[in-house]
Order: sequence, then C-alpha cells, then structure tokens
Amino acid sequence: MKQFLFLLFIFLLLINQASHADNAIPEMMKTLNPEGTLIFDADHGQQMWTQEHPGKDGKSRSCTTCHGTDLTIDGKHARSGKVIKPMAVSVNQQRFTKTKKINKWFKRNCKWTWGRECTAQEKGDFLQYFQEN
Ligand code: HEC
Repeated sequence: MKQFLFLLFIFLLLINQASHADNAIPEMMKTLNPEGTLIFDADHGQQMWTQEHPGKDGKSRSCTTCHGTDLTIDGKHARSGKVIKPMAVSVNQQRFTKTKKINKWFKRNCKWTWGRECTAQEKGDFLQYFQEN
C-alpha cells in the first residue's frame, strides 16, 4: 500500500509538471522585469499591436500585417502568404512555450516591423496582451 501511494504521488507529480511546463510567459516576464519595477499593460500591448510604422518598402506595417487584429484566429505572413497560428494563449496552447523562441521572434519581428528592437516594457506589454486574449 505504501509503495502504491508513493507511485501515485510520483505519477501525479509528473502530470502536474507536464501540464505546467508549457507556458513560458511568467518566466519571460521575470527575465524582462527582474526588479519588479515595470508594470505590464495589456491595453498598451494591444495599442502597439495595431500601430502602423513606415516600412523600408514604403508601405506601412504593423504586427497585424502578419498576425492579424484578432489574436484568436489565424494570421497570414505578409511576404510568404503562409498561415500563422493564433497568438492568443486561450485558443492556442502551443504559443509561448519556449523563452528562446519568444526572444528570437521578438527580435526579428520588432526589427522588421518597427525598424528597432522592442524594449523590455514593450515586450512585457505584448505578452500581457497575448495572455489576456
Ligand atoms: C513579417 C511577418 C510578421 C510580422 C509583421 C510580425 N510577426 Fe511575429 N511572427 C511571425 C512568424 C512567421 C512567427 C513564427 C511562426 C509562429 O510562431 O507561428 C512569429 C512569431 C512571433 C512570436 C513568438 C510566438 C511564440 O509562440 O513563441 C512573437 C512573440 C511575435 N511573433 C511577436 C510579434 C510582434 C510583437 C510583432 C510586431 C512588432 C510581430 N510579431 C510582427 C511573423 C511576423
């Protein structure tokens, strides 16, 4: 009986880990805000998401150019036309599972869209927005 309970305990521990390992947003936020001095704002995230910036090609671009304005449905890549899965965590559990992936795409997409990297405050605001929608 003791052995059984022990195995049950290990089993539950593993399930618990598997279901919690998937969202990396809390970990990202800690890295972006080590002192806890920043307050992340989903409304500001949403505002930046749709803000248009002049691109190198003369056309204006925003995050929605590829991801769309509704985070709960597919987006479409502006150049390749490829489908981009929804950004909202509520409908897409595969989102924001690895800090490495999040960092890579923030870097690439902020540069392409805004012509510069995003600040910690901006990244945190975006993540707050993705998480709440
Ligand atoms: C030129 C098209 C394009 C634009 C514009 C764009 N993205 Fe993306 N984004 C992508 C692609 C492609 C991926 C990777 C494929 C995927 O995860 O579905 C991605 C992934 C991401 C990810 C990683 C998601 C994850 O699951 O880890 C973040 C964060 C992100 N984008 C943020 C932004 C922000 C913020 C902006 C605006 C500043 C933006 N993107 C503009 C194409 C774009």
